[in-house]
Amino acid sequence: MMNVSVIGTGYVGLTTGISLAFLGHRVTCVDIDERKIDGLKAGLMPIYEPGLEDLLNSSEERIRFTTSYEAAVSEAEVLIFAVGTPANEDGSPNLTYLFGAADDVISHLIGKETPTVLVNKSTVPVGTADTIADKIKAFGLEDRVSIASNPEFLRQGRAVADTLYPERVVVGGGDAAVQTLRRMYEVLVEQRFEAPSFAPRPEGVEAVPFMSVDLRSAELAKYAANAFLAMKISFINEIANVCDAVGADVRRVADIIGTDARIGKSFLHAGIGYGGSCFPKDTRALHHIADTNGYDFKLLAAVIEVNGAQKFKLIEKARESLGSLQGKRIAVLGLTFKPGTDDIREAPSLPIIEELVREGAEVRVHDPIALEKSRPQLPVGVQACVSVQEALLGAEAALLVTEWPEYAGIGAEQLKAWMDRPLWIDGRNAFADQYGQELEYRGVGIRGGASRQPAHVHP
Ligand code: UDX
Repeated sequence: MMNVSVIGTGYVGLTTGISLAFLGHRVTCVDIDERKIDGLKAGLMPIYEPGLEDLLNSSEERIRFTTSYEAAVSEAEVLIFAVGTPANEDGSPNLTYLFGAADDVISHLIGKETPTVLVNKSTVPVGTADTIADKIKAFGLEDRVSIASNPEFLRQGRAVADTLYPERVVVGGGDAAVQTLRRMYEVLVEQRFEAPSFAPRPEGVEAVPFMSVDLRSAELAKYAANAFLAMKISFINEIANVCDAVGADVRRVADIIGTDARIGKSFLHAGIGYGGSCFPKDTRALHHIADTNGYDFKLLAAVIEVNGAQKFKLIEKARESLGSLQGKRIAVLGLTFKPGTDDIREAPSLPIIEELVREGAEVRVHDPIALEKSRPQLPVGVQACVSVQEALLGAEAALLVTEWPEYAGIGAEQLKAWMDRPLWIDGRNAFADQYGQELEYRGVGIRGGASRQPAHVHP
């Protein structure tokens, strides 16, 4: 058991803190936002993440929440930074919060006798850990304080499972820091804990690779992973657009290329492109990092450009079917950037809605979780509907933007009864098999929309 402090109770910080407490450590979670900390003390989760509250309940006696840096620093053997690094206008990450937190922590490290490892989990430009190391040196603390980078790869909506059963634990840093973190992650790496009922251990997971590297490689690996996944999505979206042009089915193409182990099946789901708090920000940041270091990362620029345009394919399809959108009632189903989260950051829904409004459509929107949260961001005149039926009533097209499972239960007959024209434009290719035959259906890269046979694999 170790004393660990986590600075920042955002997505990554909170999941990390709660998971480490669950794994047996004594954890202090710090945030400068008093309301958030008061809420957490009262058991209120500031984010929607399945299983996280249960995980907290099973580790409550080992975790505390505070706004005091002093409390966090004094006893901690490991101190993890998990503060936000939002994007600046030019795409570069804004490090104000991180450096602010680092300065606060360092001021409390002066005079502390026991060794401390400062770990960065925030996604930061390559070289940031070295900058913090320089600060440590400037105060003459380098004998007692070491620096590590420990990037986080968790997905929203699956944060608990991704944290308890990660595909790897990556630590960048010198020997002392790596050894301390190996100790901190021992129970996780060796999977020596009883899997909670709400996050069962996936079959075949017996141990987790612990990969130690130099600081800069760890920092870059996080960006490289996200950029590669973003590239897969933009690639399959481009193939989908070609499918639309030549009359092929992108789902079948994805099935086929995915069987090649070098390509892999995942992240080949065509649609309206990626959103969320990571991919858009991290791809722009990596491009900016390469650029400021004298390298023009052309492939990544194309990935970003393709993603920017892809969401508007839905509107093109609506125009192809309906002509001008002026005065047409259109339902937008789903506002979050993906199902299973209430996050609307960089969600494709918002620019889609703005464009529909710009073209004069009468827009009605629905989301099972994020409707209230989204209201302030919706353009004037957009009607936020608490029921799917209300959103679809009298509509001439439904644009499926987020593939919430709820929408699968509607049924073609109901859609035909509710809508003026049962035109279903599926931005996620989620309901092709269900609605493909029965409605006027248009997917992305599924020409004509007719549901086709899955690839038949002959034994
Ligand atoms: C992502 C990474 O997966 C995670 O490792 C990293 O730490 C943070 O960023 P997250 O943003 O939670 O996680 O979402 P993810 O499930 O990866 O989806 C990202 C976006 O890509 C979503 O908008 C999703 O709809 C889209 N997507 C994903 C596709 O369009 N097609 C796919 O095949 C996969």
